[in-house]
Parts: sequence; C-alpha cells; structure tokens
Amino acid sequence: MSRPGLKVFAPASVANVAVGYDILGFAIEGPGDEIIINEGNRPGLHIKGVRGTTKKLPTETEKNTAGYAGLQLMKHLGYEKEAVEIEIFKKMPFGSGLGSSAASAVAGAFAVNEFFGAPLTKKELLRFAVEGEQIADGAWHADNVAPSLMGGIILIRDNESLDCIKLPVPTGLYSCVIYPHISILTKESRAILSDTVSLQNHIKQNGNLGYFVAGLYRTDLDLIQRSLEDVIIEPQRAQLIPHFYEMKEAALSEGALGFSISGAGPSVFALCQNSLIAENIGERLNKLLSDQGIENDVFVSKINTEGAYKY
Ligand code: HSE
Repeated sequence: MSRPGLKVFAPASVANVAVGYDILGFAIEGPGDEIIINEGNRPGLHIKGVRGTTKKLPTETEKNTAGYAGLQLMKHLGYEKEAVEIEIFKKMPFGSGLGSSAASAVAGAFAVNEFFGAPLTKKELLRFAVEGEQIADGAWHADNVAPSLMGGIILIRDNESLDCIKLPVPTGLYSCVIYPHISILTKESRAILSDTVSLQNHIKQNGNLGYFVAGLYRTDLDLIQRSLEDVIIEPQRAQLIPHFYEMKEAALSEGALGFSISGAGPSVFALCQNSLIAENIGERLNKLLSDQGIENDVFVSKINTEGAYKY
C-alpha cells in the first residue's frame, strides 16, 4: 500500500525550569527539528541524511535518536518490515541545553506515527520518544521529550512510568533563552552532580516547586517569581557557564520572574511576564556575552503550547 510522505516539526525545550530537576520542562517556539518521512526502497527505517548541523550525527538508525525512536514505534505497530526513509533537518543548535536530542527523538516517533495514520496518541508516543532520547545521554528522563511532544509546561510525577501532566500556562508568559557557544556534554553535566541533597535544601526546593505549580494554577506571577530559585542543581552547575551570575543579576534587574540554567546547559533562560522584558533581557545578555568575546544566540518566545505537529 502506498503511503504519502509528510513533514513534522518538534520544538526545542527548557528542562528543569530551576525547581524541577528531571521532572519539569516547557517547550519554546522557533528552534526545533524537522523530519521529512517517505516510503523507502528497502525494508525497515533508514536515515537518508541529517542536515543543518556541522556536527556529525549518526545516520545509522539504531544509533540516531530519531531513527531509534521511530524504529521502536514501527516494531510496536508491527510495521518493521515496511520500507520507510527519513531526512532530519536540525533547526536548532546541538549540545546547547535546549533538548536537541529530545526534539529529534520526538520528531522521529511523531513522524512514524503520522506516516502510519496516527494510531497512537501523543501520550502513548511518549515512551518511544524517551527510548530514543535515552541513547543520547544514557539517562531515562522525559523533561525535554514530554514538552517537545505535547507542548506547554509539563510536570512529571514519575519518570519510570512517565506519569506526567500539562500545567496551565499564564497568558503572556515569555521565555528568553541565551545560548553561549560553548560545549557542555549532558553526560558530564550530570556526572558532576552530588548524589545527595541536604534535608534543608530538599525542604526549600519542595516549597519552591509547590509554589511554582500553585502560581501557574492561580496565574499568580508573584508566587512564580518567589519560587523560581534552584538551591540544589544550579549552585553545582553554574561554574560550567561563563558569567552565569552576572547574567542572572542582569536578567533579574531587568525584571525577570526567574533565571536559571536550561537543562544541562550551557543555555540559560529567563521566564518573563511579557515579551518586552524578555526582549530587553535578550539584548542585555547578548551584549554582556559579546563584550566578553563569547558568541551567543538569543531565542525569545512564548511558551509553545502545541508541541510536535505535522505540516
Ligand atoms: N534534566 C536533564 C539535566 C536535562 O538537567 O541533566 C538534560 O537532559
């Protein structure tokens, strides 16, 4: 049976969001991964090419996050003997802390699902996308994958069972992400973290996470502002990011609701109550880093509430 080709897009995302290491993330608009999927000429899922990146990403299906996620889904659906070909267009920086491998894995699983007539819901696809992302850093967590797939701000109660929910997004909430062009490997950024948390920090972080979620439900920006403080992960990782605390001070003085590291870094993000504040922070931090000779990209966007979509 002949199936028409199609194109999908999965957005970049900000994981952890200061107070929810491995359990909180939101999707942004603009950067992400695009995949074109078509019938192939030999059985199985094959990768025709990866474009848009100077980094050499694997084109072997089993070693590529998009390929692996798509293939696992094909197996699950009983279509592994079908001939399918994908082409990946990276429209976002790789190794930036913006969930590049997650966006690829989501796009891979989502493309295959759409190609076969969308038999699974996005929630049902989540597992396959996480399986794909896992081959990138070896860890099982959905804080980039879930928002990239489903959009919005996602809270994960349990990564193992992928029990997660979409939180409300207050109107007007904007994010400003700054990506300094330095390389941090997620694996290494995870490896430096201490295995233990003091009781005092556990109490503080729990209070902050609870207030952050309450702030979203109540559309209370004051609660959000008071709660966006990471006392566990940020103090350990800030040393990896040049001028982190100068950037933080600048962003907060411009009126950010909060500022922290995006995922494993090196990107950082500010949550803002409107686009003007987000734009101002972007300009100021771009200048701050440029003055220090650090090239950087700024992404200002609303919270993306849609997630992956088909063109
Ligand atoms: N929660 C993850 C981390 C996101 O901070 O390591 C990056 O994969």
